[in-house]
Amino acid sequence: MNDLAGKHIVLGLTGGIACYKAAELCRALLKEGATVQVVMTEAAEQFITPVTMQALSQRPVFDSQWDARASNNMPHINLSREADAILIAPCSADFMAKLVQGRADDLLSLMCLARPLDNVPLLLAPAMNREMWTHPATRRNVTQLKADGATIFDVGCGDQACGETGDGRMLEPQELLDEVIAFFQPKTLAGQHVLVTAGPTYEAIDPVRGITNLSSGKMGFAIARAAREAGAEVTLVAGPVHLATPRGVTRIDIQSAQNMHQAAVEYAQNATIFIATAAVADWRPANSAEQKIKKDGSGDVPKLTFVENPDILATLAQSPRGRSGALYCVGFAAESQDLLANAQAKRLRKGVPLLVGNIGPATFGQDDNALLLVDELGSKEMVRDSKLALARKLIADIATRIRARS
Ligand code: C5P
Repeated sequence: MNDLAGKHIVLGLTGGIACYKAAELCRALLKEGATVQVVMTEAAEQFITPVTMQALSQRPVFDSQWDARASNNMPHINLSREADAILIAPCSADFMAKLVQGRADDLLSLMCLARPLDNVPLLLAPAMNREMWTHPATRRNVTQLKADGATIFDVGCGDQACGETGDGRMLEPQELLDEVIAFFQPKTLAGQHVLVTAGPTYEAIDPVRGITNLSSGKMGFAIARAAREAGAEVTLVAGPVHLATPRGVTRIDIQSAQNMHQAAVEYAQNATIFIATAAVADWRPANSAEQKIKKDGSGDVPKLTFVENPDILATLAQSPRGRSGALYCVGFAAESQDLLANAQAKRLRKGVPLLVGNIGPATFGQDDNALLLVDELGSKEMVRDSKLALARKLIADIATRIRARS
Protein backbone atom coordinates (compact mmCIF):
# COMPACT_ATOMS: atom_id res chain seq x y z
CA MET A 1 0.00 0.00 0.00
CA ASN A 2 1.01 3.62 -0.36
CA ASP A 3 -0.16 4.80 3.01
CA LEU A 4 2.03 7.91 2.90
CA ALA A 5 1.39 8.91 -0.71
CA GLY A 6 1.54 12.68 -1.08
CA LYS A 7 3.12 13.21 2.34
CA HIS A 8 6.32 15.18 2.61
CA ILE A 9 8.31 14.28 5.70
CA VAL A 10 11.28 16.18 7.06
CA LEU A 11 13.36 13.44 8.67
CA GLY A 12 15.62 14.99 11.29
CA LEU A 13 18.59 13.05 12.66
CA THR A 14 20.28 14.01 15.92
CA GLY A 15 23.34 12.51 17.58
CA GLY A 16 22.88 8.90 18.66
CA ILE A 17 23.91 5.43 17.62
CA ALA A 18 20.32 4.79 16.49
CA CYS A 19 21.16 6.92 13.43
CA TYR A 20 21.90 3.64 11.68
CA LYS A 21 18.19 2.81 11.90
CA ALA A 22 17.30 6.14 10.31
CA ALA A 23 18.72 4.88 7.01
CA GLU A 24 16.24 2.00 6.96
CA LEU A 25 13.44 4.26 8.16
CA CYS A 26 14.13 6.68 5.31
CA ARG A 27 13.75 3.85 2.78
CA ALA A 28 10.60 2.59 4.46
CA LEU A 29 8.99 6.04 4.32
CA LEU A 30 9.81 6.32 0.62
CA LYS A 31 8.44 2.85 -0.08
CA GLU A 32 5.11 3.92 1.44
CA GLY A 33 4.97 6.80 -1.02
CA ALA A 34 6.32 9.71 1.06
CA THR A 35 8.95 12.16 -0.07
CA VAL A 36 11.68 12.65 2.51
CA GLN A 37 13.90 15.64 3.16
CA VAL A 38 16.72 14.75 5.53
CA VAL A 39 18.09 17.34 7.95
CA MET A 40 21.03 16.36 10.17
CA THR A 41 22.67 17.91 13.18
CA GLU A 42 26.44 18.05 13.44
CA ALA A 43 26.29 15.32 16.11
CA ALA A 44 24.23 13.05 13.81
CA GLU A 45 26.98 13.29 11.21
CA GLN A 46 29.35 11.66 13.70
CA PHE A 47 27.21 8.52 13.39
CA ILE A 48 26.11 8.37 9.75
CA THR A 49 27.13 10.40 6.72
CA PRO A 50 24.98 12.80 4.71
CA VAL A 51 26.14 10.82 1.65
CA THR A 52 24.24 7.77 2.85
CA MET A 53 21.14 9.77 3.68
CA GLN A 54 21.24 11.68 0.39
CA ALA A 55 21.53 8.47 -1.62
CA LEU A 56 18.59 6.91 0.24
CA SER A 57 16.33 9.96 0.25
CA GLN A 58 17.30 10.97 -3.28
CA ARG A 59 17.64 14.59 -2.14
CA PRO A 60 20.57 16.67 -0.91
CA VAL A 61 20.77 16.67 2.88
CA PHE A 62 20.56 19.98 4.79
CA ASP A 63 22.71 20.42 7.87
CA SER A 64 23.33 24.12 8.28
CA GLN A 65 21.20 27.19 8.92
CA TRP A 66 23.71 29.08 6.77
CA ASP A 67 23.10 26.90 3.71
CA ALA A 68 23.10 29.29 0.75
CA ARG A 69 21.51 26.93 -1.80
CA ALA A 70 18.07 28.53 -1.51
CA SER A 71 17.89 31.99 -3.04
CA ASN A 72 16.34 33.53 0.08
CA ASN A 73 19.00 31.85 2.24
CA MET A 74 16.34 30.68 4.70
CA PRO A 75 16.38 26.88 4.70
CA HIS A 76 14.63 26.80 8.09
CA ILE A 77 11.60 28.58 6.65
CA ASN A 78 11.51 26.88 3.25
CA LEU A 79 11.95 23.34 4.54
CA SER A 80 9.48 23.64 7.41
CA ARG A 81 6.73 25.23 5.30
CA GLU A 82 6.57 22.40 2.78
CA ALA A 83 6.53 19.57 5.37
CA ASP A 84 3.47 17.54 6.38
CA ALA A 85 5.41 16.55 9.51
CA ILE A 86 8.84 16.84 11.04
CA LEU A 87 9.94 13.44 12.31
CA ILE A 88 13.05 13.41 14.45
CA ALA A 89 14.49 9.91 14.58
CA PRO A 90 16.63 9.47 16.52
CA CYS A 91 15.83 12.27 18.93
CA SER A 92 18.60 12.53 21.53
CA ALA A 93 18.15 13.57 25.17
CA ASP A 94 20.11 16.71 24.41
CA PHE A 95 17.90 17.60 21.48
CA MET A 96 14.76 17.14 23.58
CA ALA A 97 16.18 19.50 26.19
CA LYS A 98 16.91 21.97 23.43
CA LEU A 99 13.36 21.79 22.08
CA VAL A 100 11.94 22.33 25.56
CA GLN A 101 13.90 25.55 25.87
CA GLY A 102 13.04 26.70 22.36
CA ARG A 103 16.68 27.04 21.46
CA ALA A 104 17.52 27.42 17.79
CA ASP A 105 21.25 27.38 17.23
CA ASP A 106 21.32 24.74 14.49
CA LEU A 107 19.15 24.17 11.43
CA LEU A 108 16.99 21.36 12.87
CA SER A 109 16.09 23.06 16.14
CA LEU A 110 15.59 26.32 14.25
CA MET A 111 13.13 24.57 11.93
CA CYS A 112 11.24 23.05 14.86
CA LEU A 113 10.84 26.48 16.41
CA ALA A 114 9.98 28.19 13.13
CA ARG A 115 7.44 25.60 11.97
CA PRO A 116 3.77 26.63 11.78
CA LEU A 117 2.47 24.93 14.94
CA ASP A 118 -1.00 24.18 13.56
CA ASN A 119 0.09 22.71 10.24
CA VAL A 120 3.37 20.95 10.81
CA PRO A 121 3.25 18.34 13.57
CA LEU A 122 6.43 17.38 15.37
CA LEU A 123 6.98 13.65 15.88
CA LEU A 124 9.82 12.52 18.11
CA ALA A 125 11.39 9.06 18.30
CA PRO A 126 13.59 9.21 21.40
CA ALA A 127 16.79 7.15 21.56
CA MET A 128 19.14 7.13 24.51
CA ASN A 129 20.73 5.13 27.29
CA ARG A 130 18.25 3.81 29.90
CA GLU A 131 19.62 6.05 32.67
CA MET A 132 19.22 9.10 30.47
CA TRP A 133 15.66 8.05 29.58
CA THR A 134 14.57 7.64 33.20
CA HIS A 135 16.47 10.71 34.47
CA PRO A 136 14.11 13.27 36.05
CA ALA A 137 15.33 15.92 33.60
CA THR A 138 14.29 13.78 30.61
CA ARG A 139 10.98 12.90 32.29
CA ARG A 140 10.31 16.63 32.75
CA ASN A 141 11.25 17.30 29.15
CA VAL A 142 8.94 14.57 27.83
CA THR A 143 6.03 16.04 29.81
CA GLN A 144 6.78 19.55 28.58
CA LEU A 145 7.19 18.52 24.96
CA LYS A 146 3.82 16.75 25.04
CA ALA A 147 2.25 19.83 26.59
CA ASP A 148 3.77 21.86 23.76
CA GLY A 149 2.01 19.62 21.24
CA ALA A 150 4.74 17.20 20.17
CA THR A 151 3.92 13.53 19.61
CA ILE A 152 6.45 11.35 21.38
CA PHE A 153 6.66 7.75 20.27
CA ASP A 154 7.42 5.02 22.78
CA VAL A 155 10.92 3.71 23.22
CA GLY A 156 11.84 0.06 22.91
CA CYS A 157 13.20 -2.04 25.73
CA GLY A 158 16.18 -4.37 25.38
CA ASP A 159 19.91 -4.51 24.76
CA GLN A 160 21.49 -1.12 24.26
CA ALA A 161 24.59 -0.26 22.24
CA CYS A 162 26.32 0.74 25.51
CA GLY A 163 25.99 -2.85 26.77
CA GLU A 164 23.23 -2.09 29.26
CA THR A 165 19.67 -3.40 29.06
CA GLY A 166 16.51 -1.37 29.56
CA ASP A 167 14.20 1.28 28.13
CA GLY A 168 15.47 3.89 25.71
CA ARG A 169 16.16 2.10 22.42
CA MET A 170 14.70 3.78 19.39
CA LEU A 171 11.79 1.81 17.95
CA GLU A 172 12.63 -0.32 14.92
CA PRO A 173 12.15 1.30 11.50
CA GLN A 174 9.02 -0.76 10.73
CA GLU A 175 7.50 0.15 14.11
CA LEU A 176 8.19 3.83 13.51
CA LEU A 177 6.74 3.57 10.03
CA ASP A 178 3.53 2.09 11.50
CA GLU A 179 3.42 4.93 14.04
CA VAL A 180 3.81 7.57 11.34
CA ILE A 181 1.10 5.95 9.19
CA ALA A 182 -1.17 5.76 12.25
CA PHE A 183 -0.49 9.40 13.06
CA PHE A 184 -1.98 10.52 9.75
CA GLN A 185 -5.17 8.45 10.08
CA PRO A 186 -8.27 10.39 11.21
CA LYS A 187 -8.95 9.92 14.93
CA THR A 188 -12.58 8.90 14.51
CA LEU A 189 -12.59 6.56 17.52
CA ALA A 190 -10.74 8.73 20.02
CA GLY A 191 -11.97 7.95 23.53
CA GLN A 192 -13.48 4.58 22.53
CA HIS A 193 -12.32 1.19 23.77
CA VAL A 194 -12.59 -1.50 21.13
CA LEU A 195 -12.59 -5.22 21.86
CA VAL A 196 -11.86 -7.49 18.88
CA THR A 197 -11.91 -11.28 18.72
CA ALA A 198 -9.87 -12.78 15.89
CA GLY A 199 -8.60 -16.02 14.40
CA PRO A 200 -9.77 -19.60 14.89
CA THR A 201 -10.21 -21.43 18.15
CA TYR A 202 -8.60 -24.77 18.94
CA GLU A 203 -10.66 -27.43 20.63
CA ALA A 204 -8.53 -30.15 22.16
CA ILE A 205 -9.39 -33.83 21.61
CA ASP A 206 -6.40 -34.94 23.66
CA PRO A 207 -3.06 -33.28 24.58
CA VAL A 208 -1.71 -33.60 21.03
CA ARG A 209 -4.76 -33.38 18.77
CA GLY A 210 -7.52 -30.91 18.27
CA ILE A 211 -10.10 -29.38 15.99
CA THR A 212 -9.62 -25.97 14.47
CA ASN A 213 -10.46 -24.12 11.24
CA LEU A 214 -8.81 -22.18 8.44
CA SER A 215 -9.30 -18.66 9.78
CA SER A 216 -6.00 -16.79 9.50
CA GLY A 217 -6.97 -13.93 11.83
CA LYS A 218 -5.86 -11.37 9.23
CA MET A 219 -9.17 -9.50 9.02
CA GLY A 220 -9.47 -9.22 12.80
CA PHE A 221 -5.87 -8.10 13.20
CA ALA A 222 -6.38 -5.49 10.46
CA ILE A 223 -9.48 -4.24 12.29
CA ALA A 224 -7.57 -4.03 15.57
CA ARG A 225 -4.83 -2.05 13.83
CA ALA A 226 -7.32 0.26 12.11
CA ALA A 227 -9.17 0.90 15.39
CA ARG A 228 -5.94 1.81 17.13
CA GLU A 229 -4.94 4.05 14.22
CA ALA A 230 -8.32 5.76 14.66
CA GLY A 231 -7.36 6.63 18.24
CA ALA A 232 -9.14 3.87 20.18
CA GLU A 233 -7.74 1.81 23.01
CA VAL A 234 -7.79 -1.72 21.59
CA THR A 235 -7.87 -5.19 23.16
CA LEU A 236 -7.43 -8.08 20.77
CA VAL A 237 -8.42 -11.56 21.94
CA ALA A 238 -6.67 -13.86 19.48
CA GLY A 239 -6.91 -17.57 18.79
CA PRO A 240 -3.81 -19.48 17.68
CA VAL A 241 -2.42 -17.50 14.71
CA HIS A 242 1.04 -16.52 13.54
CA LEU A 243 0.54 -12.79 13.15
CA ALA A 244 2.45 -9.87 14.62
CA THR A 245 0.52 -7.82 17.17
CA PRO A 246 -0.43 -4.44 15.70
CA ARG A 247 1.45 -1.61 17.44
CA GLY A 248 -0.22 -0.23 20.52
CA VAL A 249 -2.79 -3.04 20.71
CA THR A 250 -3.16 -5.18 23.87
CA ARG A 251 -3.23 -8.81 22.80
CA ILE A 252 -4.65 -11.69 24.80
CA ASP A 253 -3.79 -15.10 23.35
CA ILE A 254 -6.28 -17.90 23.91
CA GLN A 255 -6.83 -21.43 22.57
CA SER A 256 -10.38 -22.65 22.98
CA ALA A 257 -13.80 -21.07 22.48
CA GLN A 258 -14.35 -21.27 26.22
CA ASN A 259 -11.09 -19.36 26.83
CA MET A 260 -12.14 -16.78 24.25
CA HIS A 261 -15.57 -16.45 25.83
CA GLN A 262 -14.07 -15.89 29.27
CA ALA A 263 -11.56 -13.30 28.03
CA ALA A 264 -14.13 -11.48 25.88
CA VAL A 265 -16.65 -11.23 28.75
CA GLU A 266 -13.92 -9.89 31.03
CA TYR A 267 -12.54 -7.28 28.63
CA ALA A 268 -15.99 -6.26 27.37
CA GLN A 269 -16.65 -4.72 30.77
CA ASN A 270 -14.62 -1.66 29.86
CA ALA A 271 -15.18 -1.75 26.10
CA THR A 272 -17.55 0.50 24.17
CA ILE A 273 -17.35 -1.40 20.87
CA PHE A 274 -17.12 -5.17 20.32
CA ILE A 275 -16.17 -6.51 16.88
CA ALA A 276 -16.43 -10.29 16.68
CA THR A 277 -14.32 -11.47 13.75
CA ALA A 278 -13.19 -14.75 15.28
CA ALA A 279 -14.17 -18.02 13.64
CA VAL A 280 -15.22 -19.64 16.89
CA ALA A 281 -15.69 -23.41 16.82
CA ASP A 282 -19.38 -24.19 17.15
CA TRP A 283 -18.72 -27.42 19.05
CA ARG A 284 -15.97 -28.92 21.17
CA PRO A 285 -15.33 -32.56 22.13
CA ALA A 286 -17.45 -33.33 25.17
CA ASN A 287 -14.47 -34.78 26.98
CA SER A 288 -10.90 -33.91 26.11
CA ALA A 289 -8.77 -36.95 27.00
CA GLU A 290 -6.05 -36.29 29.57
CA GLN A 291 -3.59 -38.59 27.81
CA LYS A 292 -3.02 -39.18 24.11
CA ILE A 293 -5.68 -41.52 22.70
CA LYS A 294 -3.74 -44.56 21.42
CA LYS A 295 -4.40 -46.85 18.49
CA ASP A 296 -4.72 -50.35 19.91
CA GLY A 297 -4.39 -52.24 16.61
CA SER A 298 -7.96 -53.54 16.74
CA GLY A 299 -9.14 -51.21 14.00
CA ASP A 300 -11.64 -49.58 16.40
CA VAL A 301 -11.88 -45.79 16.04
CA PRO A 302 -12.57 -43.47 18.95
CA LYS A 303 -16.09 -42.12 19.16
CA LEU A 304 -16.13 -38.39 19.66
CA THR A 305 -19.16 -36.68 21.07
CA PHE A 306 -19.54 -32.90 21.00
CA VAL A 307 -21.12 -30.16 23.05
CA GLU A 308 -21.98 -26.69 21.82
CA ASN A 309 -19.68 -23.77 22.62
CA PRO A 310 -20.99 -20.54 24.11
CA ASP A 311 -21.88 -17.93 21.50
CA ILE A 312 -19.64 -15.02 22.50
CA LEU A 313 -21.23 -12.44 20.22
CA ALA A 314 -24.80 -13.33 21.19
CA THR A 315 -23.86 -13.37 24.90
CA LEU A 316 -22.36 -9.88 24.77
CA ALA A 317 -25.02 -8.47 22.44
CA GLN A 318 -27.72 -9.70 24.85
CA SER A 319 -25.91 -8.49 27.99
CA PRO A 320 -27.31 -5.35 29.65
CA ARG A 321 -24.54 -3.18 28.14
CA GLY A 322 -25.06 -4.76 24.73
CA ARG A 323 -28.80 -4.21 24.84
CA SER A 324 -28.52 -0.61 25.98
CA GLY A 325 -25.98 0.19 23.26
CA ALA A 326 -23.24 1.04 25.78
CA LEU A 327 -21.39 -1.82 24.09
CA TYR A 328 -21.90 -1.49 20.32
CA CYS A 329 -21.67 -5.03 18.91
CA VAL A 330 -20.61 -5.89 15.39
CA GLY A 331 -20.73 -9.45 14.09
CA PHE A 332 -19.17 -11.16 11.10
CA ALA A 333 -20.60 -13.90 8.92
CA ALA A 334 -18.43 -16.11 6.76
CA GLU A 335 -20.78 -17.66 4.23
CA SER A 336 -20.28 -19.72 1.11
CA GLN A 337 -23.44 -18.50 -0.69
CA ASP A 338 -26.51 -16.22 -0.40
CA LEU A 339 -24.48 -13.67 1.51
CA LEU A 340 -27.20 -11.03 1.87
CA ALA A 341 -29.96 -13.37 3.06
CA ASN A 342 -27.65 -15.26 5.41
CA ALA A 343 -26.14 -12.07 6.83
CA GLN A 344 -29.57 -10.52 7.42
CA ALA A 345 -30.78 -13.63 9.19
CA LYS A 346 -27.62 -13.81 11.28
CA ARG A 347 -27.91 -10.15 12.30
CA LEU A 348 -31.36 -10.79 13.72
CA ARG A 349 -30.38 -14.07 15.34
CA LYS A 350 -27.39 -12.52 17.11
CA GLY A 351 -29.26 -9.34 18.00
CA VAL A 352 -26.57 -6.95 16.74
CA PRO A 353 -27.05 -3.58 15.03
CA LEU A 354 -24.43 -4.30 12.38
CA LEU A 355 -23.36 -7.53 10.74
CA VAL A 356 -20.55 -7.80 8.21
CA GLY A 357 -20.78 -10.59 5.66
CA ASN A 358 -17.96 -12.06 3.64
CA ILE A 359 -17.50 -15.15 1.54
CA GLY A 360 -15.52 -17.60 3.67
CA PRO A 361 -13.55 -19.50 1.01
CA ALA A 362 -12.66 -16.17 -0.68
CA THR A 363 -11.26 -14.59 2.47
CA PHE A 364 -9.68 -17.29 4.65
CA GLY A 365 -5.92 -16.77 4.57
CA GLN A 366 -6.10 -14.06 1.88
CA ASP A 367 -4.70 -10.54 2.15
CA ASP A 368 -7.76 -9.06 0.49
CA ASN A 369 -11.49 -9.39 0.96
CA ALA A 370 -14.87 -7.89 0.05
CA LEU A 371 -17.50 -6.99 2.66
CA LEU A 372 -21.25 -6.59 2.83
CA LEU A 373 -22.50 -4.44 5.71
CA VAL A 374 -26.00 -5.31 6.83
CA ASP A 375 -28.04 -3.21 9.27
CA GLU A 376 -31.72 -2.67 10.03
CA LEU A 377 -32.10 -0.35 7.04
CA GLY A 378 -30.45 -2.47 4.36
CA SER A 379 -27.03 -3.34 3.08
CA LYS A 380 -23.91 -1.69 1.72
CA GLU A 381 -21.07 -3.26 -0.24
CA MET A 382 -17.39 -2.62 0.31
CA VAL A 383 -15.67 -3.81 -2.85
CA ARG A 384 -12.60 -6.04 -2.91
CA ASP A 385 -9.56 -4.39 -1.42
CA SER A 386 -6.75 -5.20 0.99
CA LYS A 387 -7.95 -6.27 4.44
CA LEU A 388 -6.28 -3.22 6.00
CA ALA A 389 -7.99 -0.81 3.58
CA LEU A 390 -11.35 -2.49 4.26
CA ALA A 391 -10.71 -2.47 8.00
CA ARG A 392 -10.10 1.29 7.89
CA LYS A 393 -13.32 1.83 5.93
CA LEU A 394 -15.26 -0.37 8.33
CA ILE A 395 -13.88 1.48 11.35
CA ALA A 396 -14.79 4.83 9.77
CA ASP A 397 -18.29 3.46 9.11
CA ILE A 398 -18.70 2.23 12.69
CA ALA A 399 -17.47 5.60 13.99
CA THR A 400 -20.15 7.37 11.92
CA ARG A 401 -22.82 5.02 13.29
CA ILE A 402 -21.71 5.67 16.86
CA ARG A 403 -21.63 9.44 16.35
CA ALA A 404 -25.11 9.32 14.81
CA ARG A 405 -26.49 7.69 17.98
CA SER A 406 -25.13 10.25 20.42
O1 C5P B 1 -23.01 -18.38 14.21
P1 C5P B 1 -21.85 -17.99 13.39
O2 C5P B 1 -20.57 -18.67 13.80
O3 C5P B 1 -22.05 -18.10 11.92
O4 C5P B 1 -21.68 -16.41 13.68
C1 C5P B 1 -20.56 -15.67 13.30
C2 C5P B 1 -20.39 -14.48 14.20
O5 C5P B 1 -20.60 -14.81 15.56
C3 C5P B 1 -18.98 -13.95 14.16
O6 C5P B 1 -19.02 -12.58 14.47
C4 C5P B 1 -18.30 -14.76 15.25
O7 C5P B 1 -17.13 -14.13 15.73
C5 C5P B 1 -19.38 -14.82 16.30
N1 C5P B 1 -19.38 -16.03 17.11
C6 C5P B 1 -19.09 -15.95 18.45
N2 C5P B 1 -19.14 -17.09 19.23
C7 C5P B 1 -19.47 -18.27 18.71
C8 C5P B 1 -19.77 -18.38 17.34
C9 C5P B 1 -19.71 -17.24 16.57
O8 C5P B 1 -18.76 -14.86 18.93
N3 C5P B 1 -19.50 -19.34 19.48
